[in-house]
Amino acid sequence: MLARQTARRTSSQLHQVRNMITAQAVVYTQHGEPKDVLTTHKYEIDDDNLDKNSIVIRTLGSPVNPSDINQIQGVYPSKPEKTTELGTAEPAAVCGNEGLFEVVKVGAGVSKFKAGDWCIPTKVNFGTWRTHALCSDEQMIKVPNPADCKARGREPLTVNQGATISVNPLTAYLMLTHYVKLEPGKDWFIQNGGNSAVGRYASQIGALLGINSISVVRDRPNFEEFARKLSTENGATHVITEEQNNSREFGPEVKKWTKATGGEIKLALNCVGGKSSAGVARKLAPNGLMLTYGGMSMQPVTLPTSLHIFKNITSAGFWVTQLLKSDLDLKLRTLSQIIEWYETRQLKDSPSHENHFSPDADLAACYIHAVDSSKQGKQLVVYQ
Ligand SMILES: NC(=O)c1ccc[n+]([C@@H]2O[C@H](COP(=O)([O-])OP(=O)(O)OC[C@H]3O[C@@H](n4cnc5c(N)ncnc54)[C@H](OP(=O)(O)O)[C@@H]3O)[C@@H](O)[C@H]2O)c1
Repeated sequence: MLARQTARRTSSQLHQVRNMITAQAVVYTQHGEPKDVLTTHKYEIDDDNLDKNSIVIRTLGSPVNPSDINQIQGVYPSKPEKTTELGTAEPAAVCGNEGLFEVVKVGAGVSKFKAGDWCIPTKVNFGTWRTHALCSDEQMIKVPNPADCKARGREPLTVNQGATISVNPLTAYLMLTHYVKLEPGKDWFIQNGGNSAVGRYASQIGALLGINSISVVRDRPNFEEFARKLSTENGATHVITEEQNNSREFGPEVKKWTKATGGEIKLALNCVGGKSSAGVARKLAPNGLMLTYGGMSMQPVTLPTSLHIFKNITSAGFWVTQLLKSDLDLKLRTLSQIIEWYETRQLKDSPSHENHFSPDADLAACYIHAVDSSKQGKQLVVYQ
């Protein structure tokens, strides 16, 4: 179906071909550190001879997520297939899972999209670190472009919002809504990593749903000011330090908060592990659930035996990729809610550092720089 996507032609062949799009993709044939294994592969897309259900899209922006780096290293359970579809000499995979695209051209049988529409990949492992792609219309989900938003009297989605919508906001929303019934105005959830992107989405979404939250963050010199901002700008009801989370003396203070609303802490979100996970689990009411979705401290999840036996606390894992793999409808419903909150400016996106790519530059070099800068915060490659 995608046969009209070919390796770059020689210059003698090129002058016979008109209207071909020269695309760049960041690929790897072997796993390893990104700087050692990523290369730019150039190929052409014949947009004059599209199959019936094909669309040609151009990338507007795509982020560097920790899971993208882990995939390149070969240590992530979900992996893209390596193929020679783009004309590489050896089977290669295109990097990247999230991204925002604009439709450039559609095949004769496509009714779902028209040129100018915005879209995001339906599934993971699409390979989003590329300038253009030729794919079937089923591989993309439509999201509103600025004109669509304006027509509905809404604010436009930003490139950052569209390009980063599939992982972190969906993770936060689904963890809060899919497992435990939390009663608005009364019940609570507690989370560590309260300053992470997922944590900030969770506290904001909690506030939008009327759910109280306790965000645990690492201590810092300007903690009071930091905590105030996490509350006013990101909806956290209370912000506490890891030291307070681990202190038995602090327990009665938390009990006072929950007593005041007449609710319980029924859910704990854990992305840290180690003793931080024991601290958040201890604050759960009997029969509460701790969902582990990350392991930032690199320590195993710790859950005191007594909490299992005497409070019937359950510990489970959460992986957005697995949950949504076979439930497109849940993904579409969740996306629709997040988009509505973005368009009505009720939800703030997590900011990214922008890396601008111009077509005459080398795409792999641009992403290697973005990967190197990832420790300074989330990186987004924006295409001109
Ligand atoms: N399972 C899933 O479906 C799923 C989906 C999305 C994300 N994730 C995972 O969720 C985690 C958070 O992702 P993100 O993109 O939101 O992260 P992020 O924005 O990069 O934030 C990372 C957070 O981790 C905290 N942190 C780092 N090392 C720590 C340590 N040793 N002890 C305590 N806290 C520590 C940082 O605290 P400071 O603010 O103090 O620096 C920061 O708040 C990652 O592990 C990611 O892979 C999983």
